[in-house]
Amino acid sequence: MGVAVEIEGLTKSFGKQTVWSDVTFDLPPGEISVLLGPSGTGKSVFLKTLVGLFKPDRGSIRIDGQEVTTLHERELYAVRRRLGVLFQDGALFGSMNLYDNIAFPLREHTRKTEAEIRGIVEDRLELVGMTGDGDKFPAEISGGMRKRAGLARALVLDPELILCDEPDSGLDPVRTALLGELISELNAATGATFLIVTHDINTARTIPDHIGMLYLRRLVAFAPRAEMLASDEPVLRQFLNASREGPIGMTEEKDALEVARERERELAVDDYRGDHREGP
Ligand SMILES: Nc1ncnc2c1ncn2[C@@H]1O[C@H](COP(=O)(O)OP(=O)(O)OP(=O)(O)O)[C@@H](O)[C@H]1O
Ligand SMILES: [Mg+2]
Repeated sequence: MGVAVEIEGLTKSFGKQTVWSDVTFDLPPGEISVLLGPSGTGKSVFLKTLVGLFKPDRGSIRIDGQEVTTLHERELYAVRRRLGVLFQDGALFGSMNLYDNIAFPLREHTRKTEAEIRGIVEDRLELVGMTGDGDKFPAEISGGMRKRAGLARALVLDPELILCDEPDSGLDPVRTALLGELISELNAATGATFLIVTHDINTARTIPDHIGMLYLRRLVAFAPRAEMLASDEPVLRQFLNASREGPIGMTEEKDALEVARERERELAVDDYRGDHREGP
C-alpha cells in the first residue's frame, strides 16, 4: 500500500542560490501526483531531497509519519528500501545488462536467492513490455526502452512510494500515452503513492489525481487535478496550455528580470506620453 508523505516548510539552496523555499504540501497515500514546473525550477532537486540525496536547509519531510530529514545514512537505507526511484537520466549501469541492472536492488537490499530474483526480474520486465530483453545492454537499446527498464528497476522492491523524474521525456507521443497508462495501471495494481515529474501536458491533464507546480522558487499550488486545470492563476494556465503568452519566459532568471524590464519600459512610455520633449 502507499505511504503518505508530508512536506512542511521545505527549503533548499546551493550556496547563495535558493532553489525553492517554504514548500508545504502532502502527497496523498495511494494516489498519483504530478509535479510540474519550467526547467531549472528544482523538480529534480526536490525528488532527490525526498530520497535523502540532498539535505534541505530547513523544513520537514515525513514519510509514513517518520521524519527523514534528520536520519543518518544507515536509517535512511531502511527508508529507501520502501521507495522506488526513476531518475531523470534513467541511471542504468552501463556495464551491466538490463537483467543485472534490474536485479541490482534485490541483490543489494534483500537475501533472496538467484532463483527468486530471476522470477521477480522477469515479472518486472514483462510488466514494462520488455520480456526477453534482459541480456541487452543500456547502450544497445533506445531511450524509450531505457526509461522502461529504469521503471522496471524502480518497481523491483515493491515500493510504497514511487518517484519518477520525467519518465516520458524523449518518448514519442504514443509511447508517452502508453507509459501514462502503465503508471495508472501500476498505481491501481500496487496502491503505491506516485510522484511524477513531467513536462508532458497530456500526461498532466489525464493521469494524476493531484497536480503541483514549482515556479520562481516556490510551490505555486498543489491541488486536485480538476481544480488545477480550471485554475485561472496565470502561471498554471500558461503552463497547462503550453502558451507563449504569460509570465513564464525562456529562463528562470529572465522571468524576474523580464518583469522588472517590462515595468521599466511601461514607466518610460508613460513618461514619454507625459512629456514629449524628453522622449527618446
Ligand atoms: N548538485 C548541485 N549543486 C549545485 N546546484 C545544483 C545541483 N543540482 C541542481 N542544482 C541547481 O538547482 C537548480 C534546479 O535544478 P533541477 O535539476 O532540479 O531543475 P529541474 O526543475 O529538474 O529542471 P529540468 O526540467 O530541466 O529537469 C538549477 O539551478 C541547478 O543548477
Ligand atoms: Mg529535472
